Amino acid sequence: MVQNSVEAAARAMARARHVVVFTGAGVSRESGIATFRDAEEGIWRKYDPMEMATLEGYLRDPAFVWAWYEHRFGIVAGAEPNPGHRAIAELEQLFDSVTVVTQNIDGLHQRAGSTDVIELHGSMHRFACLHREHGGFRLADFAGQEDRPPRCPVCGDLIRPDVVWFGEALPREELDRGQRLSAACDAMLVVGTSGIVFPAAALPLQAIHSGATLIDVNPEPSALSSQATIYLKGRGGDIVPQLVEELRTRREPG
Ligand code: APR
Repeated sequence: MVQNSVEAAARAMARARHVVVFTGAGVSRESGIATFRDAEEGIWRKYDPMEMATLEGYLRDPAFVWAWYEHRFGIVAGAEPNPGHRAIAELEQLFDSVTVVTQNIDGLHQRAGSTDVIELHGSMHRFACLHREHGGFRLADFAGQEDRPPRCPVCGDLIRPDVVWFGEALPREELDRGQRLSAACDAMLVVGTSGIVFPAAALPLQAIHSGATLIDVNPEPSALSSQATIYLKGRGGDIVPQLVEELRTRREPG
């Protein structure tokens, strides 16, 4: 494990053609979005997100959990992509293919300009009914309703965010494609994940197993750092722009 050389990381990635960027909550930290493992603020401080972000937690008190999500929707609506998200989007100018595989549900990679984003844990911008029989709703679709949570316009059941709660399966197609690309990429850039939540965390392990170069960016060493080709200690918003700058000097736009 070599620490902190952006130059060495750029050298290791320079010949890659197919790149996967694997991200977690840390990439959005500098946009002001707290991770589940950060302390919540204000009235939400005494509640455990790991209990609220479950089907059981939702069914126990739908109005309460919905209110917590509305609080989180508000934070994301007021947030902007940070330099880390933007630098990740710029990688598309440098490699034949770049796919972002994210555990985040905030949509900030897309807003930063990434065009191929696999959302392993769903999206907080999309809603479905409780049993996911009807989906693809937007928050605006419920604007006229007074119910909190809103009701499915088709079946009348409770509406839920189309995200993967603890204990739920990941969306099949997204996971399959993420696994395929992780096994086939030449380089994987990991930003802002603790690497402890499976099955998502199996993707970087798959990339290493298949011989890809793995660059890990994190201010604290994670479960993946010691297995990375190069561990870059630092914040995504500081390190990834430097890495892209360094890559630009080594690669023709392609
Ligand atoms: N830049 C990069 N990484 C950062 C930054 C930053 N500015 N700040 C914190 N980090 C790192 C932390 O050191 C930590 O390793 O981001 C990581 C965040 O870890 P987690 O909170 O465990 O987030 P994640 O890996 O995405 O968790 C996976 O678990 O919370 C659930 O479903 C949720 O998708 C999430 C999943």
